[in-house]
Amino acid sequence: MTQFEGSHILSVNQLDLDAIHTIFNVANRMTPYALREKRTKVLEGAILGNLFFEPSTRTRVSFGCAFNLLGGHVRETTGMASSSLSKGESLYDTARVLSTYSDVIAMRHPEAYSVKEFAEGSRVPVINGGDGANEHPTQALLDLFTIQKELGFAGRGVDGMHIAMVGDLKHGRTVHSLSRLLCMHKNISFTLISPGELAMPDYVLDDIANAGHRVTITDQLEGNLHQADILYLTRIQEERFPSQDEANKYRGKFRLNQSIYTQHCKSNTVIMHPLPRDSRAQANELDNDLNSHPNLAIFRQADNGLLIRMALFALTLGVDTQLEKYECPVNWYSRKADR
Ligand code: NCD
Repeated sequence: MTQFEGSHILSVNQLDLDAIHTIFNVANRMTPYALREKRTKVLEGAILGNLFFEPSTRTRVSFGCAFNLLGGHVRETTGMASSSLSKGESLYDTARVLSTYSDVIAMRHPEAYSVKEFAEGSRVPVINGGDGANEHPTQALLDLFTIQKELGFAGRGVDGMHIAMVGDLKHGRTVHSLSRLLCMHKNISFTLISPGELAMPDYVLDDIANAGHRVTITDQLEGNLHQADILYLTRIQEERFPSQDEANKYRGKFRLNQSIYTQHCKSNTVIMHPLPRDSRAQANELDNDLNSHPNLAIFRQADNGLLIRMALFALTLGVDTQLEKYECPVNWYSRKADR
């Protein structure tokens, strides 16, 4: 059984199915607070150090809002240039100092394993918000949570499902972490669709093979989607390429739109994307013409991110059993609670 209280969350490899189950149970209990039906002040007085050394919208803001929704304060640092890392300070020193100012830290950084290195200097739990092309454990958890819910609506489960992952599978940390969480389940079929140069790294393929799941690897989108229960699209991770010209070679290679979806997917295939989708004309991997499609789960994914991050804060700070004790009413007009 994973010990959450006081622990870092750095990699999906530190989790097992029991731990995931615990996180999802707590996440479900966060729903009324996220919908502003009621409040909890369980983390009143606590401080989150939200350190984002790489661009982010959803992950950074949802970590911050998740902490606020539990009653805590958020102290944010964004960008290398505004921190002493740009003066040559080590991750260890930064961690030693900032961890005395905070009760928990969420961190994103462009280098693989940097968040782990930072955590070694931290006196408080550190949650990995993405370390280079390596891992994105909280995204993978919210993705799996979304898959469970979406398939659950149709009476299906994760075991036995078929997922097609499309795009930059080499640099996409979300697909690396999600694949490993899926490996913990039974009888998964993976169809991995990418240009050959952007294929899923061998270490992830080894994990899939060692767990006995089925894998098809291809560089063709059409014709390889018809069995997918989940279609997980990704953006070309341009920031990981040596130049924009290099990234441009792959932009727009795979595009999903209404017509391709209707022609090549099952009618109940769920469409996912960690976002941001690259909506520029030369990329447009997920067309706006699917925006009102009921199987488009991308915004439900983002909503679920709030619940998962609230759960992780409650668990790592050891307050998951006290949420209700610190409840209070919402005093303002709340559109969300009207839903
Ligand atoms: C992803 C990331 O940062 O890895 N975004 C996110 O956190 N939702 C995917 C991406 O940037 O393409």
